[in-house]
Amino acid sequence: MTDNDNIIDIPSLQWYPGHMRKAERLVRENLKLVDVVIELLDARIPLSSANPVLREIVGDKPRVIVLNKADLADEAAMRVWVKCFAAQGITAVPVDAVKGRGVKELVQAIAQCAKPKTDKLVQHGAKARAARCMILGIPNVGKSSLINRLSGGSKTKVENRPGVTRAKQWIRIGTQLELLDMPGILWPKFEDRQTALHLAYTGAINDNVYDVASVVLLLLDTLRTKYPSDLKERYRLEGELSNGAELLAAIGRKRGCLRAGGRIDEEKAQQIVLTDFRSGRLGRVMLDSPPSISLIEDAR
Ligand code: G4P
Repeated sequence: MTDNDNIIDIPSLQWYPGHMRKAERLVRENLKLVDVVIELLDARIPLSSANPVLREIVGDKPRVIVLNKADLADEAAMRVWVKCFAAQGITAVPVDAVKGRGVKELVQAIAQCAKPKTDKLVQHGAKARAARCMILGIPNVGKSSLINRLSGGSKTKVENRPGVTRAKQWIRIGTQLELLDMPGILWPKFEDRQTALHLAYTGAINDNVYDVASVVLLLLDTLRTKYPSDLKERYRLEGELSNGAELLAAIGRKRGCLRAGGRIDEEKAQQIVLTDFRSGRLGRVMLDSPPSISLIEDAR
């Protein structure tokens, strides 16, 4: 197994300061228009998929967290994460944006979160109105899928508003919510090596910006330690699971990834592992350990 830091060198390839500033400016401009922000995290990596400066960008605007791709996440660990967020006063809702699970609960949570603001407007003599919200998250976390889900496929547009450019459209969701039909794209904290690896494993960053061979070996090592029975079951492996390289060879043999002369076709085996992992065929996982709830409570 390599421990070479150069296997991941993402910032220079995918993001650069100008790009980040532009993304941040767009988010800040649109934030002014909404009552609540919906922060999408990948339920398998709630820490690694978070934007490092989101709190500063969002300020004290109410926020609901979506643990998206919940269908791929370890349920018990996800529940602990939900409790951890609750201990910080933040509602987090597990969602499968593709199948729609958790979406009803999410709509309720957003409406609840916006209520103090919308009630206050009415108390000050304004007409009652729906809560306005927008979706924020790193690339590939499922923002477009969630917008489609929330809109039920058929987007009911809300009229243009003064001060809102024509290109921006609002989608009506029931009677309670209006969603900005433009997700805010944020960048992840990729300067941290562990975070960058988690983003690579889950497909949040493009496979052509890192060394796939090394990343797959590290992924196999992680799965061998954390989820050995899922790995054994999927590839019908027996006995002790050794290191990542030996595991990859065993998987290659089981799957018939062979070159002339009987050598293992490692590239083919790597792609099988990545595809199986990302589609949940290696089981539901949690790669970021939840912080201890008691620690959070002590800190309050
Ligand atoms: P983005 O707007 O944040 O960039 O993300 P997008 O909705 O495009 O979703 C990125 C990928 O993640 C898509 O897969 C999408 O289907 C998948 N996805 C989104 N939400 C969920 C979820 O809750 N569960 C699961 N299992 N997958 C989810 P793709 O393979 O890139 O595209 P496609 O083949 O599905 O079209």
